Amino acid sequence: MSTDKKIYQPNPAFAKHAAINSMDAYWKLQNKAIEDYEGFWKKYADEKIDWLSGYDKVLDESDAPFYKWFTEGRLNVSNQCIDRHLADKAHKTAILFEGDRGDVEEITYALLSLRVNKMANLLRHEFNVKKGDRVVLYMPMIPEAAYAMLACARIGAIHSIVFGGFSAEALKDRIEDAEAKIVITADGAYRKGKPYMLKQVVDSALEEGGESIEAVLVVKRNNEEINWVEGRDHNYNELITSQHAECPFEAMDSEDPLFLLYTSGSTGKPKGVQHSTAGYILWAQMTMEWVFDVKGDDIFWCTADIGWITGHTYIIYGPLAAGTTTVMFEGVPTYPDAGRAWKMVQDHKITQFYTAPTAIRVLHKMGEDEPKKYDLSSLKVLGTVGEPIDPPAWKWYYETVGNSNCAIVDTWWQTETGGHMISPLPGATPIKPGCATFALPGIMAEVLDYQGETKNDGGLLCITKPWPAMIRNIWGDPDRYVSAYFGDVSKNGTPIYFSGDGARVDEDGYITIVGRVDDVINVSGHRMGTAEIEAAVKKDDHVAEVAVVSRPHDIKGESIFIYIVLKEGHINKDIKNHINELLANEIGNIAKADHIIEVPGLPKTRSGKIMRRILRSIAKGEEITQDISTLEDPSIVEQIITSAREA
Ligand code: WTA
Repeated sequence: MSTDKKIYQPNPAFAKHAAINSMDAYWKLQNKAIEDYEGFWKKYADEKIDWLSGYDKVLDESDAPFYKWFTEGRLNVSNQCIDRHLADKAHKTAILFEGDRGDVEEITYALLSLRVNKMANLLRHEFNVKKGDRVVLYMPMIPEAAYAMLACARIGAIHSIVFGGFSAEALKDRIEDAEAKIVITADGAYRKGKPYMLKQVVDSALEEGGESIEAVLVVKRNNEEINWVEGRDHNYNELITSQHAECPFEAMDSEDPLFLLYTSGSTGKPKGVQHSTAGYILWAQMTMEWVFDVKGDDIFWCTADIGWITGHTYIIYGPLAAGTTTVMFEGVPTYPDAGRAWKMVQDHKITQFYTAPTAIRVLHKMGEDEPKKYDLSSLKVLGTVGEPIDPPAWKWYYETVGNSNCAIVDTWWQTETGGHMISPLPGATPIKPGCATFALPGIMAEVLDYQGETKNDGGLLCITKPWPAMIRNIWGDPDRYVSAYFGDVSKNGTPIYFSGDGARVDEDGYITIVGRVDDVINVSGHRMGTAEIEAAVKKDDHVAEVAVVSRPHDIKGESIFIYIVLKEGHINKDIKNHINELLANEIGNIAKADHIIEVPGLPKTRSGKIMRRILRSIAKGEEITQDISTLEDPSIVEQIITSAREA
């Protein structure tokens, strides 16, 4: 990916005070982990976690790949993120909220504690939410979403956040899979100066199903009129006032689930990725300190939505566990203009800024010189996540946003990994743009083939040892957990974690992520399975067959490209609109296709398997180099190319 051969050294003034301040320091840590893996993790678990009672084993591999970390330990994540900071940080801002319309609220650790305790009491006493119960959050980016997450953690309930862009159907599926007891939502919120609605999506979801739901708790944000189901719906703003200010937290086991987060795989329905309590929070905190190097009065801003793993780990859990100030933003960085994000950096003196390459490309395109209008001198570290960052975006981010002073940490990780896995360290790693560089200390990443042999010139990105923040299970489907993550690659007879990504390693040991090698596509950093999209398209009565692939896109990274075979007639605008409507309804607006083309047939092997690789090449406009002689009907390829060209 990288055409720019220049290597960018860490800023020496920054490195002087960095948590990991040289490659020597990095290798010292990494070698320690290689020599004594459990000892390495023990040191940090002892140092960082406020244990209520100690663990007996660092890592229990007896039921691999159902690994257990810090067995028998007791802790509580809301204590780790709030209570333990109250002695010296009660008056420090924990959450710095900025609304879409510019309203700002600074929530100190003391105030956060009060609000989380009250919400925890509300859930516990008014709704009888108990340890292990599932709570679905369908929330905008407002502080109450953070209170709800932490309140669940406090009483041991398992939250499952559904991104506010998902449709009623998708919300219903997730509620049902988790058998959730309660949904917490809001009337809506504000975006681009206007109110938008969420509650009605919850209403539709519950009209269709979601039988397990006993109550809907509604936060009032925009005060727009909403439908109200007596007996089921409850007003948060009214109920919260009478709640007691103190709610004792549950002593959770290290391995008790902290949350579920549904994500797409290459087959079937979305999977409820289950994260643990101790391992997850430990790594969330450690990566804040290592990768973002937060300290002192730093103001940290991650622009993700709490509906994604990035929002979980780097808006809420990581920053608060590290005792830092985390910025939460309701709006979009391009409203009222493309300078909004930079104005916020200036106004709040933000020190670390973490976003996605797709956002950088939009901000670059819409406002190349906007950053120059603001004082961005507070920035120390810039981060990216979600997809490989292309050299032009990297360069603009580095030079214009970071004034050639800030390291860019290109962090590779996944919903399943809980926190960063491969990333530069801002005070240590010489950076090659577009390259995620090295595995973090304690993380053993290798690029292998299916037999577990090293394949540095292009292979499968694997993590060869379990790590504390790793996925523990797929909710309700342990077999799928094993097959989805440990079913493809083995090394010396031991199944190992395969990420689904391809990567290569250069002569200096730098890891470059190439992208997914499975049928998962990444639109604006949002992960979707082609199988889910195909299932939605098949609901159109005209469609006989469908295959979905991605096509590179300037801003979104990838866009959705759909091939359909119709039962009769020809593709027209109505059919295309209907298919996109289906995608919006079944999944959400993020799943709408840029291209829907009609083809006379799909390229299939004699056993009926669709050759997606061919379809991917055609969507990209590439020459077909694969052998097509094994296809049932090789002539179909030429016909598909012609249709694609005409479309
Ligand atoms: C991709 C997001 C290249 C990758 C935290 C991964 C990346 C998927 C990077 C996970 C990066 C994430 N460079 N690709 N720095 N970060 N990815 O679960 O394909 O939403 O498997 O987690 O995003 O997406 P997810």
